[in-house]
Parts: sequence; structure tokens; C-alpha cells
Amino acid sequence: MSEASSRRLFLRASAVAATAAATGVAAAAPATASKKIAKLSELKPGDAVNFTYPQDEPAVLLDLGRRVSGGIGPRGSIVAYSALCQHMGCPVNFEAQRAQLVCSCHASVFDPARGGDCIEGPSTRGLPRIALKVEGDTVFATGVTGGLVYGRGCNRA
Ligand code: FES
Repeated sequence: MSEASSRRLFLRASAVAATAAATGVAAAAPATASKKIAKLSELKPGDAVNFTYPQDEPAVLLDLGRRVSGGIGPRGSIVAYSALCQHMGCPVNFEAQRAQLVCSCHASVFDPARGGDCIEGPSTRGLPRIALKVEGDTVFATGVTGGLVYGRGCNRA
């Protein structure tokens, strides 16, 4: 990068920071990526769809087959979570028989019907939730709520 373009970038960043300070409005953060995850018409109770979000981190979409808090879809039964355990970052797997997410390393257990709460340690934190929306027949991931995905300093894509 040339010295002139470095200077232009610095001046642009300074102008944005000065505007934010003068108006009291923070500069807009980059939007979290919206990502296609599944076809709504193809999901059925008990399904688990693995995907990555916000970038290459594993996540899982679940159709729990019954209405749950924050669930989407016609039954209010579809939720999604980061699939990285909050203890030390190992993958969690959906065990359909018990309808729970279980860590593959030290067996922490998370309840997807209760916002990803940790119900058995050693993890002391629940799983971050992946926000979902439906447009037509497509389910999109739109953001992360309830904490940082394990290993990230920021949930933005
Ligand atoms: S990494 Fe999941 S319980 Fe330790």
C-alpha cells in the first residue's frame, strides 16, 4: 500500500471516529452474514443439520419437534446453536434420544429446548444461539446471541 493510500485510509477512519464522537452514534458495525442453512419443507422432527457459522466454526440446526422458546418454523420447533463447547471448544453432538447436545470431550450436556443452557458440567456456560429467520422455504442464519462462539473475540463474520 502506498503512503498516499495509507494516509487516505487513516483520514477516512479518523473522520468516521470523529463523526461518531460528535453525534454520539457509534459507527455502523459490519453486518453479520446471512447464510442459507436448510429448506424448511425438508426438515422433520429430530433432524440435526450441521453447518458452519459465523465463518468456519461448527454449528447445528435442530428441529426439536415441539414448540420451544425462540423456536421458528410452523411448529416453533427449529433452533440452532454453536456446536463448540464453552468449556474447551470441543464439538458437541446432538443425541436425538435424549434431545440434548453432548460434548465429545468431557461430556458437558446442553439443553437446546432451553436456550442452550448447560445442564451438566464441566462447562459453566451455555451454548451461544444462532439467530434464524425463514424466507419462503429457506432457513437462514442471521447472527449469534447469548455469548461468543468459543475461541472468537467477536461473533461478526
Ligand atoms: S470441552 Fe466440552 S466439556 Fe470439556
